[in-house]
Amino acid sequence: MNSKKNLHPVQNVEISASIMCIDWLHAARQLEILEDEKIDYLHWDVIDGRFAPDFTMGSSIINKFRENSHIRSDYHLMVEEPANIFDSFNVAPGDIFTIHQEGSRNLHRDLVSLRRKGARVGVALNPGTSLEVLDYIIEDIDVILVMTVNPGFMGQALVPQAIGKIEKIKERITDLKLDIKISVDGNVSYENIPEMVASGADILVGGSSGLFLKDMDLRDSIKRLRECIQIGIDKR
Ligand code: DX5
Ligand code: ZN
Repeated sequence: MNSKKNLHPVQNVEISASIMCIDWLHAARQLEILEDEKIDYLHWDVIDGRFAPDFTMGSSIINKFRENSHIRSDYHLMVEEPANIFDSFNVAPGDIFTIHQEGSRNLHRDLVSLRRKGARVGVALNPGTSLEVLDYIIEDIDVILVMTVNPGFMGQALVPQAIGKIEKIKERITDLKLDIKISVDGNVSYENIPEMVASGADILVGGSSGLFLKDMDLRDSIKRLRECIQIGIDKR
């Protein structure tokens, strides 16, 4: 694998492309465009039908994409006992692995073991999950993924109170002077992006609402997404 980096954030807000929303019949072509446009991460929603009510992609599909891409990976494991599948994926420098407290019987242990594998580690918060989850693990994570929809399906509407949650987390990180990125996942649309970014999002997961749109060319949607990020940055 080539070590070419895809570091091209719009003023430090990065884009993570949600591959479950890709146009599967044209996936190779779309992957080339994501590379060419210097998208920062490929976001892998791994769902086991137990943690959330759907099945998405397993390691055979994901690793095949990985072999054919230079873009870093952003794994979002929505599974029961995620530690059972940690070894299914190769960790490359800069990759993020995110797990949910609800899926992990020993959250701290799982986060530490992911870090030992060399990954940047994240904890994901469902819309109904309290910020107290962060109390005893915040020193051990690199990313907080704020779910702005309930896990499972593309195309859901934003849970509005999640925006206030982004602001609260941003305040907490700033007060503690920690280097933790806030990632926002779910209904990242042109309408919602400015507020998400103004509230403190560092990484946006682009899915069916803002990146892989049925009636828009992928290059055009990336351009529009970046324009909306800029609007959010200007509101900060
Ligand atoms: C939701 C997934 C998201 C997905 C949603 O369970 O975690 O990653 O990309 O994208 P939208 O909401 O834009 O379809
Ligand atoms: Zn996700």
